[in-house]
Amino acid sequence: MQTEKSLGSYPEITDSQIREALDKAVSLVTENLRDFTVRFPDSNSRHNFYPPTENVEWTTGFWTGQIWLAFETVRDKEPDRARLLKTAGEIQVESFLNRIRDKVDVDHHDMGFLYSPSCVAAWKLTGNETAKKAAVMAADQLLTRFQERGQFFQAWGELGARDNYRLIIDCLLNMPLLFWASQVTGDEKYRTKAQAHIRTAMNCVIRPDHSTYHTYFFDPGTGKLVRGVTHQGNRDGSAWARGQAWGIYGSALSYRQMRKPEYIDIFRKVTDYFLEHLPDDLIPYWDFDFDNGSSEPRDSSAAAIAVCGILEMSKYLENGEASHYRKAAKRLLAALWEKCAVRSPEESNGLLLHGTYARGTPTNPCTDRGVDECNTWGDYFYLESLIRLTGDWDLYW
Ligand code: GLY
Repeated sequence: MQTEKSLGSYPEITDSQIREALDKAVSLVTENLRDFTVRFPDSNSRHNFYPPTENVEWTTGFWTGQIWLAFETVRDKEPDRARLLKTAGEIQVESFLNRIRDKVDVDHHDMGFLYSPSCVAAWKLTGNETAKKAAVMAADQLLTRFQERGQFFQAWGELGARDNYRLIIDCLLNMPLLFWASQVTGDEKYRTKAQAHIRTAMNCVIRPDHSTYHTYFFDPGTGKLVRGVTHQGNRDGSAWARGQAWGIYGSALSYRQMRKPEYIDIFRKVTDYFLEHLPDDLIPYWDFDFDNGSSEPRDSSAAAIAVCGILEMSKYLENGEASHYRKAAKRLLAALWEKCAVRSPEESNGLLLHGTYARGTPTNPCTDRGVDECNTWGDYFYLESLIRLTGDWDLYW
């Protein structure tokens, strides 16, 4: 386990490493357009190579998001490459419009993960009206999952069913789509529901020791809190590393929208827990039950998400505290660059090695999936973190 002092002794990623890592990542994304323009990479790689898939699951937006991040990086200096990326992004936006219009695999809450990095990004960067239409439709779809009794968005399953009447911490990242939808439509209904969900989630997912529950059940009859339960963590009482990271980025994005000082406090708590429970090489195990010397797999994606969340919140903190957290983020990113970043297309068609989608244990309902593999969100947040460190970045979230 890290102490703050020992974290301080790690090197921060340097400006030249950031430039090198970004150039490398943008080249790899461009290279991967060959296979993934009409189709998408699956959620996780197999032996470090993604097979192609249709536009299904909660993860395809992360690939389109990488295309837009790469487009932004080269837009002003490499017009030919920028054109190639923009064309691919536009083809994918059409696919996202079809998906929401035909309601393909959208009976869940992950409309933000799908439509913010793909369609909101396209609209912000290029004014693409198809993208705007698709993203507003996705926001409408998400509204259908709001539960008045309990005031939250139900993550999965049949609406109102007792065994699915719960929110999950990940959903904090779906909320920016709703704030954006209110902004572009002028209709407050999206923002109102997002604010209610955030208030509910913040009230139940943070434990007294500042670790987090992955999911929290409510009583469908009364809306009262029932209990915290894990889905992808090691056990109900453990801290699933990626859930903790969703809490970090989720609290930063919630503060950005709502400016409630208590969300800064929550950010400090969940971030400090994350940083203090990293192993010696700074790449988190998939659950903080595991520590130095464990043979359990890592989840590099949790670190990438945490870096983005910390960099976002640093904008709103006073100088000393902002610098403390930015340094921590740059130390994590140095570790990702050194130990997990893909260097060549022969190695992988992803960007970030050593992620874990799900690890099955006797105390959770999962089976192993994408263990010690790339996953599309790890790739996306790694690239986002590099771009965040090269200047002011206008969020897709
Ligand atoms: N949002 C699902 C996951 O992080 O696996």
